[in-house]
Formats: sequence, structure tokens, C-alpha cells
Amino acid sequence: KKTVDDINAKGKRVLVRCDFNVPLKDGVITDETRIVAALPTIKKLIGDGAKVILCSHLGKVKNGPNEGESLAPVAKRLSEKLGKEVVFVSDYHVTGEAATKAVSEMKDGDVVLLQNTRFRGAEETKNGEEFSKELADLADIYVCDAFGSSHRAHASVAGVTKFISAKGGQNVVGYLMEKEINFLGNAVENPVRPFVAILGGAKVADKLNVISNLLEKCDTLIIGGGMAYTFLKAQGAEVGTSLVDDTKLDYCKEMLEKAEKLGKKLLLPVDTTIAAAFPNPIDAEIAVEVVDSKAIPADMMGLDIGPKTAELYADAVKSAKTVVWNGPMGVFENPILAKGTIAVAKALAETDAITIIGGGDSAAAVNTLGFGDKMTHISTGGGASLEFLEGKELPGVMAADDK
Ligand code: 3PG
Repeated sequence: KKTVDDINAKGKRVLVRCDFNVPLKDGVITDETRIVAALPTIKKLIGDGAKVILCSHLGKVKNGPNEGESLAPVAKRLSEKLGKEVVFVSDYHVTGEAATKAVSEMKDGDVVLLQNTRFRGAEETKNGEEFSKELADLADIYVCDAFGSSHRAHASVAGVTKFISAKGGQNVVGYLMEKEINFLGNAVENPVRPFVAILGGAKVADKLNVISNLLEKCDTLIIGGGMAYTFLKAQGAEVGTSLVDDTKLDYCKEMLEKAEKLGKKLLLPVDTTIAAAFPNPIDAEIAVEVVDSKAIPADMMGLDIGPKTAELYADAVKSAKTVVWNGPMGVFENPILAKGTIAVAKALAETDAITIIGGGDSAAAVNTLGFGDKMTHISTGGGASLEFLEGKELPGVMAADDK
């Protein structure tokens, strides 16, 4: 794909789709990772003398305009990070008169941020043609740098490219996209072996295609977190009141057979940390014990991998050259149930292997546990990194011009 290095941006209006979908608490940004990750592309374009027009969504689709999801706090933080003014167009219409005026007043190297693209219902492609064209009308070149949104075929992510092309403009990806595609793509398609994939999180159903795709690509697949109990039950284990998706038992059996047929190792917990119930509140102090994973008492619930499993998983990581990790091993928000996730994070932090962390919960776990800077790459995309690991083609990537 063409990147920002393949364009001549001097004096051009360059529309950059970022993923500034940052967590906000009372109007304050609580994690600026995605803003920091967007800086290299923005700085490069400023340096090139482009007129840099930024856009992003914040929050979920169809919420409609509301002050709580304005991108105003992002404009402010971005301005501080860049050390220069970011002109914020607060108009809920996103494109339109205010945006056109702000863009027409830009000088080379100036930066404008448009309002939350999801304030326009038309951001969803189904009815987004008009909005896509309005966005394209503001610019000469389009840069997609919103990896976290690249699995959405939305107007500002993919729809806009058609109208940029129609007027002879280029559609390219930014440095963040390039980095994400390189790390995630290489890890899965061209890994330095042995390649160990670790999957956790609550539900098997969320990761069906990831499990199946990674099983084909990796040498060892490690399963932890809530989804391990459906696998264990599929093997005939007693799992008590642990989270199980009975509709996926056959799927898990199929995966266990697939692993055997392909000669891949599929590791499941051998011991489990259990409690009488899910902690409420989530960080409540609770009484736990460790039991064999195949013999969880009928009235008890598995909430983390046990110490023997943690050791087993850490050993598998030690012998790997590439490790991809997505999903916590237990209820890591609770210190008593975070031990399995910490053990795995520590093993990744201590290895010389290439370590890639999927976005969302796994990134949050690694960062809150303090291992963030020890990883080779932490993805900024939650859903997008999962779809990437499924081997799917992402609309935001596909829409960029080929080299
Ligand atoms: C994310 O937070 O994963 C991205 O910003 C995409 O958000 P979405 O799932 O609401 O499209």
C-alpha cells in the first residue's frame, strides 16, 4: 500500500482519518495512547507543509450529536502534544460551512480537527455516499491512519477514498497503519518460529475465527481466560459454575481435533483459581482456592489460571521467537485474580522474542500491570486487531492505493 512517504503533500489539503476514540472521564482523557500514536504521521505532514485536516469518531455509532462526545478535549490535548494550535471545528455537522471556512483559511503546516464523524448518522457507509463526498471535497489527498477503525467500512474510513480517486487524488496509509500492518501481518503470515499465540478473554464466541486461523499459523496455541472453560468442558471436564458457552462445545472439539491433525500444541489450563462467585464489585476481596482444571466443584467458578498453568504458559513463551497475545487469563481487574495475567505478561516482558499485544483488554492489562514498554508492539486496535488475526482484509487498509 502507498504511504505518506509516497505523496507530495506540500501546500495540499490532506485529510487524515485518525482513531481518536479515547476514553474520557468527566471530559478528561484518561488514556492518550491513541493520540500519541497518531503524532508521527501528523508531524510528518506538518513538516512537509501540508494543510492537515484531521477527523475521527468518538464513542459508538448512532449516538447522535452530544457534547459529551465532542472531540474538543482531543483538540486541546493534541495541541499540547504538537506544541502548536489545532483549530477545532465544533460544528456537529462535521463537514459543511464551518469546516469549509476553516479549511479555506489554513496556511501550509496548519492543523484543523473536524468534529466527531459519528455525529453524522451517514458515517455508516450504507447511507454515507453524500457524507463521503463532503469529506472528500475538503481535501486533495486522503490518509487513513485510524488502525482501530480500519475494520469499519465507514464513510470517513473507506467511503471517502472513491471521491478522492474520482478527482485524481491519492489515498494512502499513515505511519501508524503501516506499523500495525507490518507487526501484526508479519507475526501471523511470516512469523519467526516457534510462534506461540496466547488467547484469553471471556467468550469463545468472540474469537472463533481467530482461534481457527491462528491454529493454522502458529506452532503452539495457548488458551486461558473465561473461554478456556468451554474447551475444558468439551474435553469432558467438570467446570462447576464457570462461564461456558454450550453452543460452542462442538466447535471446541473441532479445534482440539484440528490441532491434533495439524500437529500443533494446544495448551489448556491444568489448574484453576476458583471462587464461590464472580467478584462484585469487580475488585472486591474474595476467598479463592486452586484446584485441578478438570475437577472444579459444582458450586464453584473458575476465575483465573492457576500457578502450575502460569508456569506452563511462561515456559512455552520462553521457547518462542514470536508471541502474539490477545485477551487476559483471568479477571485481571481484581488483584487476587490477576496472577495468571501478570505471570504471562511477565514472561512476555522477559523474553527476547517478538511480542505483539492485541488492542483493547490485553493492551489495558499489559499497561496497567506496568509491562507496556517491554513489548515489541501493542496494537491500538481492539476489534481491528482481532479481525487482522482472523486473516480478514480490513476495509481501511484495502481502500488505500497500491504501490
Ligand atoms: C475501538 O475503540 O476499538 C475503535 O475506535 C473502533 O470503535 P468501534 O468498535 O465503536 O467501531
